[in-house]
Amino acid sequence: MTRSVLFVCLGNICRSPTAEAVFRSLADGRGLRIDSAGTSGWHDGGPSDPRASAEARSRGYDMSSIRSRKVTAADFDDFDLIIAMDRQNLRDLTDIQPAGSKARVELFLPYAPDLGREEVPDPYYEDNFPEVFDMIEVASRALLDKL
Ligand code: 4NP
Repeated sequence: MTRSVLFVCLGNICRSPTAEAVFRSLADGRGLRIDSAGTSGWHDGGPSDPRASAEARSRGYDMSSIRSRKVTAADFDDFDLIIAMDRQNLRDLTDIQPAGSKARVELFLPYAPDLGREEVPDPYYEDNFPEVFDMIEVASRALLDKL
């Protein structure tokens, strides 16, 4: 049974905190533990990218209390499921996953095959926050349906 989900991207200021906020809102009342982290640690302790927060706010989601943190070895035992936004995130996670740890590590978008893509593009560079938000919402609903 999946009781806890950690969303992971590179910086933990765009894609994964958006997924955390959306998934927490959709899963309201299910008693799941939901968090997000980054593989890089570049923005440790900082708030989400204002472009991501603004997009979320315009759609009724609140990212204001989320702070960036780097994924840790302990996360692989603290979470049942770790969801990677792109293949590089997935590789970085499997590279540091301690042997024998419990978490399943998976890509996000294959939960929503109708999207026709496997990776969430990085809006930090592409500045396509509305498009990325749409993907995250669809995949979040699909993931929640599967848990
Ligand atoms: P994220 O996007 O992985 O979706 O949070 C990025 C955020 C910051 C950087 C790269 C990607 N950066 O280079 O600082």
